[in-house]
Amino acid sequence: MNLAKHALPMFLGLCALSNQSVADTPTDLLKNYQQLAKTDNAAFVSFNAARGQQFFNSKHGNDWSCSSCHTTNPKQLGKHDLTGRTIQPMAPIANPQRFTDFAKSEKWFRRNCKDVLSRECSAQEKGDVISYLLSIK
Ligand code: HEC
Repeated sequence: MNLAKHALPMFLGLCALSNQSVADTPTDLLKNYQQLAKTDNAAFVSFNAARGQQFFNSKHGNDWSCSSCHTTNPKQLGKHDLTGRTIQPMAPIANPQRFTDFAKSEKWFRRNCKDVLSRECSAQEKGDVISYLLSIK
């Protein structure tokens, strides 16, 4: 088994199981995704908020962009494009609960990226999006 490739996801999995009471911070999540992005691509250097904003507001071959439900102003309430249900703001400045639970973020990235891109988002794409949302003041 390739340790570099498997040790971190395993470690993160154990953390997700064991530390229910210890909250993550958005910065912790970014560190996780940074490690994963390096595992995917040894040449990876850093996340980019502008690239994240572009990604968030663009369509990727399907009808929806991330902003279709989360809006182009992530400080505002979003609205599910199909069900009309209200979605709490995505920017941590407006919603301190955002990106404080790695397992929860992973679950929604998986689901929403499938809808928008018909595939999972890469660690770099997730890190870019979080960097963009954190850059909003
Ligand atoms: C069809 C509507 C819809 C689209 C399109 C959509 N989302 Fe979401 N998203 C939701 C809903 C509903 C939730 C869960 C409710 C909540 O967390 O407020 C959510 C939650 C999330 C979360 C959880 C954040 C946390 O609290 O940790 C992330 C991350 C996320 N979305 C990212 C994305 C990204 C990235 C895209 C574009 C690739 C996207 N979403 C597109 C509806 C959508």
